[in-house]
Amino acid sequence: MLDRLKANNRAWATRKVAADAGFFKRLEGQQAPEYLWIGCADSRVPANEIVDLDPGELFVHRNVANLAPPQDANYLSVLQFAVDVIKVKHIIVVGHYGCGGIAAAVDGKRRGLVDHWLHPIRETFADNRDELEAITDERGRLNRLCELNVMRQVRNVASDVFVHDAWARGQALKVHGWVYTLGNGLVTDLNVTVGG
Ligand code: CO
Repeated sequence: MLDRLKANNRAWATRKVAADAGFFKRLEGQQAPEYLWIGCADSRVPANEIVDLDPGELFVHRNVANLAPPQDANYLSVLQFAVDVIKVKHIIVVGHYGCGGIAAAVDGKRRGLVDHWLHPIRETFADNRDELEAITDERGRLNRLCELNVMRQVRNVASDVFVHDAWARGQALKVHGWVYTLGNGLVTDLNVTVGG
C-alpha cells in the first residue's frame, strides 16, 4: 500500500543528499525558520512548494479557511511556539481565491461541525455586508470575502497577547496578509502588514 508515496520519499531524500550531503544532518540538530505560514488545508495550496522553501525554512499551520481563532488551542500553541521559542520574524496569513471553506460558510447549507468552525467567516461577511452585497458576481463576491477573511485573521494574530508581548520585548515581528490564486500559482500581498 502507498507504494508510490514510499518510492517518492526514497527518491526525494536521495536527491536532497546528492545536492547537499549534510542536508538532513543539519536539520536534525535544530529548526530555525524565519516564517510562520497560516494557510488553508486545501491540497492545492502547499505552503513550502508555493514559496519554494526547503524543510526547516517554514513553520506551518493549516486549517480549513486559514483561520486564526483566538480560542483555538491548536493555533495558539503554534503561534506561541513560533513567536516565543523559534522567534520567527514574519507571520503570513495566506488565503486563496476559490476557497471551499469560504463558500461553505455563506451558502446557507448545513454540514455539521464545520459550520461552527466557519462561524468567524459569517461574522466577517456580516461586518462587510454592504460592500459584499454590492458585488453582483457571486465568484467576485466570494473572492472579496477571501481577502476580507485574511485581513480579519491578520487582525486576530496582530492583536494576540503573545504577539503584543513580543513587540513589547522589542522583538522584530511582522504580520502579513496574502492571497493565492489557484489558476496561476501566484500570491498577492494584500498590503495589510502590521509591524508593532
Ligand atoms: Co481553502
